[in-house]
This record gives sequence, structure tokens and C-alpha cells, in this order.
Amino acid sequence: MIVDIPDLLTQEQLQQCRQALMQAEWVDGRQTAGHAAARAKHNQQLPPASPLAVQLGEFILKTLGNHPLFMSAALPLKVLPPQFNRYQDGGDYGNHVDSAVFSVPDSPHRIRSDLSATVFFSEPGEYDGGELVIEDTYGPRSVKLPAGHMVLYPGSSLHRVTPVTRGARLASFFWIQSLVREDSRRSLLFELDQSIQQLAQTDPEHPSRVRLMGVYHNLLRQWSDT
Ligand code: NI
Repeated sequence: MIVDIPDLLTQEQLQQCRQALMQAEWVDGRQTAGHAAARAKHNQQLPPASPLAVQLGEFILKTLGNHPLFMSAALPLKVLPPQFNRYQDGGDYGNHVDSAVFSVPDSPHRIRSDLSATVFFSEPGEYDGGELVIEDTYGPRSVKLPAGHMVLYPGSSLHRVTPVTRGARLASFFWIQSLVREDSRRSLLFELDQSIQQLAQTDPEHPSRVRLMGVYHNLLRQWSDT
């Protein structure tokens, strides 16, 4: 399941983040890639421990917690600290699958990457190329969203970022361990939750609503691991 999360950030929040990122000091992204991935990766990143990366990362985590569509689609258990990257001057990231398990910096904890997330900080018109191409069950899907929007996609999927031939593409990327490990089950719960919410808008007194909510929670109880 690939889900677009529109307007994760307000225009004001977005401008603040962009301004900070444009003045930031970037390093070669290969420093943080595994051996195989390093050969495919041509971009820059903020050093994960830099004060700016930590501050913006915490800010993004806070906005995620307040976003109902993100909560419904991801059913997050743990979220890795968001990181930040920049593609320009023909930079790209060839086909790869993200690592299955990541260590949480400065802690003994590890997180399974059930979901990958990208938050866009550049408007699509500001750069050429830079599409995030995700191999979905139904074929490749090309994603290039407005600034302030986020895409969620399965951590298991093969994906790439096409070369940025004009301008710069600024983004945040991170991984989420979900309460529900399997993408197919998470998709069903998301569909059910969205339908229940729609029913709550159109026909809040409908007797089936509370029964469907029961089905939702009882499926979540069966399928979640904590
Ligand atoms: Ni990746």
C-alpha cells in the first residue's frame, strides 16, 4: 500500500524548515549507506547527530503524532528519528531495498522498517527529475509530491530516486515499525478505518457503525504485536 499524506506541514512550518535546510551544511550521503547501497547512492545528507537534524526530526515526529491519516495508515509502534537529504547536480539513488532493521542512535533499541516515509520540502516545479519510483504490486509508481506532503510505502519494496537534473530536491526520510507487521493487513485496517470515519460523517447514528468499530478493534487486537 502506498499512501499520500497531504499537508503534513502548514505553509508556515514548511517555510521555517526550508529556510533552515537551505543554510545547512550537508555531507556525502554514502557515509550512512550500507556497502551495497553506497554504490547506488549519490546525494547529500545532514549528519544525523547535528543539532539541526535532531531539532527538525523531533518537530516532524510531533506533527506525525497529531495527524489522523498518518496514524490510521501506519499504526506506528516506533519511529526512527527522521533524517534529511538533498539531491542536485544529477544526483540519484539507484534501485535498492532498505535495510530490514535499524539501530536507534545512542540506544540499545532496534526498529524493524515496516514502512518507509518521505516528506517533501521542495515544490515539484523547483527541480527536474527526483521522482521516487516505487515498485508496487501493480507495477512501478512514480511519486513527486508538493512540499509539505508525505508518502508512506512498504519498507519491503524496491525503490529508487531518479536523477535531479535541475534545481535541488530537499526531503526527509525515515522508517516506522508498525503495530501490524504485514502490509496487506495494514491495508485492510486502513480501508476499514477510513470507511468507518466516512460513515461517522454521513450517518453517525447508523447502528452498524459501532459494530464495524468492534470489528476494527478486534482485528487490530489479533494482528498487532507490541
Ligand atoms: Ni531507500
